[in-house]
Amino acid sequence: MAIEKQADVVPFDREKIQRTEGRLDGWLRRQGWMEPVSDFVQKLVGGFYGALGKPGRTLQDLMHGVWPLGHPLHPALTDVPLGAWFAAVVLGFASYIWPAVPAAVGPSVLAVGIVAALAAAAAGYTDFHDTYGLERRTGLLHGLTMTLAVLVMVVSLAVTIWSPGGRAAALAIATAGLLISLFGAFVGGHLTFKLGTMVNRHAFTEFPEEWFEAGDPKDFGEGELKLAHAGSIPVLVVRRNGTLNAIAATCSHAGGPLQEGRLDGDIVTCPWHGSRFCVRDGAVKGGPATFAQPVFLVHEDAGRVRLRAARSGH
Ligand code: FES
Repeated sequence: MAIEKQADVVPFDREKIQRTEGRLDGWLRRQGWMEPVSDFVQKLVGGFYGALGKPGRTLQDLMHGVWPLGHPLHPALTDVPLGAWFAAVVLGFASYIWPAVPAAVGPSVLAVGIVAALAAAAAGYTDFHDTYGLERRTGLLHGLTMTLAVLVMVVSLAVTIWSPGGRAAALAIATAGLLISLFGAFVGGHLTFKLGTMVNRHAFTEFPEEWFEAGDPKDFGEGELKLAHAGSIPVLVVRRNGTLNAIAATCSHAGGPLQEGRLDGDIVTCPWHGSRFCVRDGAVKGGPATFAQPVFLVHEDAGRVRLRAARSGH
């Protein structure tokens, strides 16, 4: 299924959108310049990983958090630069008040924050590569703001190193960088908590305990991707070597329809951003998804196929 990037962001009623969505989303919808810039950045990221070939795919999975975390990497890294920069600024001011605090401590902590921010940026831009619509514009604002914060912090560190008399100026610049990064963090939180970027699409799914009729065994041919339902939950059913396997059909990354994907052996590839899952156990075999697909039990006898979630609740 094609993803309409423009259709999701074109306002049809500006006032209504602003009333229901808030100022940030309304402002983002009016920033048409973000589309070509986002295209450019996404092509840059995709081109970088593509040029590396197979190792690029492995590196991309590492940056998404597919392995070894099995959880998005970017949010796990972002606390380090924010904490380090906050500490650097506090220590910088403290060194003016208490001589016991060495003047060099603040810049040292600031440098740690810059290094951690580069790792967080690598993970963040990797996740950004697979966004679209309003979340893509929000992700761009977040990325550009945090990139600006990194640059400002680098300038602050450079002033500290190369201008011995510029300690106060360096601290003022670092304070500005911290404020910029806090705004960037706010936008990043908006991206996750309001728009659900990189949130497991099954986090709120209630899995019923009963069995559901899925059809006739003849409906499920060898190696075919078939859509069935367990109540209201779409389920992907695949017969492999005669045995039926079933996992949730909604991709855990951003909700792509796995029944429209591609099957290679036991691995189904999502048609939207290429996440790969094992149809036997739902395990992630390739990002951007980092969360496994919920698994369903399949019972096949007496001319009928029945499904039940392997676990209940959510
Ligand atoms: S929706 Fe993004 S990979 Fe499936």
